[in-house]
Amino acid sequence: MVRRGIDEKEGITRRSFLKGAVGAGTAGFLGVATYGTVRSLFSPDRKLQGDVLDTFVYVNPQGAALPIWYAEEGLVNTEARLSQFEVGEGANVVWKAIRDSRGNIIPTGLPGLLIRMDEDTLDFPQGYPRDDFVMSGLFAVFNCCTHACCRPSWKLLSRSAYLKDPGYDNVYCPCHDSQYNPRRLFKYRHPVPPDASGAEYLGIYKEPGLGPADRGMPLIPLELEGDKIVGTVKNAGWYQYLDFKRAVISEE
Ligand code: FES
Repeated sequence: MVRRGIDEKEGITRRSFLKGAVGAGTAGFLGVATYGTVRSLFSPDRKLQGDVLDTFVYVNPQGAALPIWYAEEGLVNTEARLSQFEVGEGANVVWKAIRDSRGNIIPTGLPGLLIRMDEDTLDFPQGYPRDDFVMSGLFAVFNCCTHACCRPSWKLLSRSAYLKDPGYDNVYCPCHDSQYNPRRLFKYRHPVPPDASGAEYLGIYKEPGLGPADRGMPLIPLELEGDKIVGTVKNAGWYQYLDFKRAVISEE
């Protein structure tokens, strides 16, 4: 947790970043951002005071048409826990939400998507530290569609006519129908070659031909704090290419 004041723009903690840099080196990731660069990227201009949470907070997705399991269980605006997810369940969440001085959670922050799949059938690329990203089949997606940063959902929106197989549960972006396959995690690079400045990252697989997004959304590395799911930083380079100012979920 990071204490944040009106004029204080700390973003991630130095401890978190240094730990992430070590992880990036051992994983062979391309970490090209400086601490200062990453810190500024993690500093959307928020004017709220309070503790910034590294955990994920449940939120209602925009335009939800189907029953939301975590809303029915009274979990909206609370911190997500691993034990709350059955295999096949997902949730729209906010990462870096704020807890104010009265202990209330304000769901402003960065968009996330938590998904729990069958650990044994999840397709994971070789050469990546699986334990940094997947816990009992659960992983976290930075939920900013790579086309125009809308917020995709999983199983919570009514089916679009554009879905080719209505029984196939892809993560679905309601803005222009891009689809991402939650059964497959995939190694990407952005910007794409031959631009050598790109950063390698692990993302949820973008289904070719299904919507205009041209690559997967990146995963957020995870840790557990007891049963609470905590987001961390491992691939510093990738964060240069995320539009945090646009991605931030506006404060109430
Ligand atoms: S913003 Fe997601 S498909 Fe356009």
